[in-house]
Amino acid sequence: MTSPATTDTPFVIAVDGPAASGKGTIARALADHYGLPHMDTGLLYRAVALNLFRFGGDPGNELEAVRACDLSVISFDDDELRSEIVGSYASRISAYPAVRAHLLERQRSFAAQAGGAVLDGRDIGTVIAPDATAKLFVTAAPEVRATRRLAELIKRGMNVHYDEVLADIHARDERDSGRDAAPLVQADDALLLDTSDMDVDQAIAAALALVEARLAAVTR
Ligand code: DC
Repeated sequence: MTSPATTDTPFVIAVDGPAASGKGTIARALADHYGLPHMDTGLLYRAVALNLFRFGGDPGNELEAVRACDLSVISFDDDELRSEIVGSYASRISAYPAVRAHLLERQRSFAAQAGGAVLDGRDIGTVIAPDATAKLFVTAAPEVRATRRLAELIKRGMNVHYDEVLADIHARDERDSGRDAAPLVQADDALLLDTSDMDVDQAIAAALALVEARLAAVTR
């Protein structure tokens, strides 16, 4: 299906939510469905984190994190971007306003491209694309997210335990929601999608139905 974008109003879908909520899978499926480009904004923070990790920097030091914002040396295909340590560093360095400021323009211009776009992250509907056509806030119970994340890590050959993964999910939720700079929060006009009791296909179908309902409401 082609995107319902017009020249004056690019069709932008903002997908926010906590770690391992399924927002990335949903955002990619929506992008495929509407023929829109997709940006996983978490990868930008992960790229800064990986840079910092590689030069032995301290995620507790804002200046060192800012020095790691030069992403010219990072490949977005690098598997290490998806590692748990990099995710945990990313959650810490993303609390720094100066790091967020470095990554802002790249995300805003992606969202503003003429044909429209789908972006997923934590602050898309609130900061990056506050005028998005449709905003979803995707969530699931922490235990469900931990179970999904554990299955993913085991599939990648990692030796991890449920309790560690759940503790990490709780720590990330607290950091991502508790920070002052662009915290994870549901935008007032975002549609809530709780995927706790859904499999992947059901979650995608539910997301699509919400976006279609929103489109019907705005074009009425
Ligand atoms: O979605 P993810 O797990 O790949 O994101 C990694 C970290 O990056 C997450 O813990 C918080 C941060 N992040 C953010 O602060 N804002 C975004 N738009 C996307 C991610």
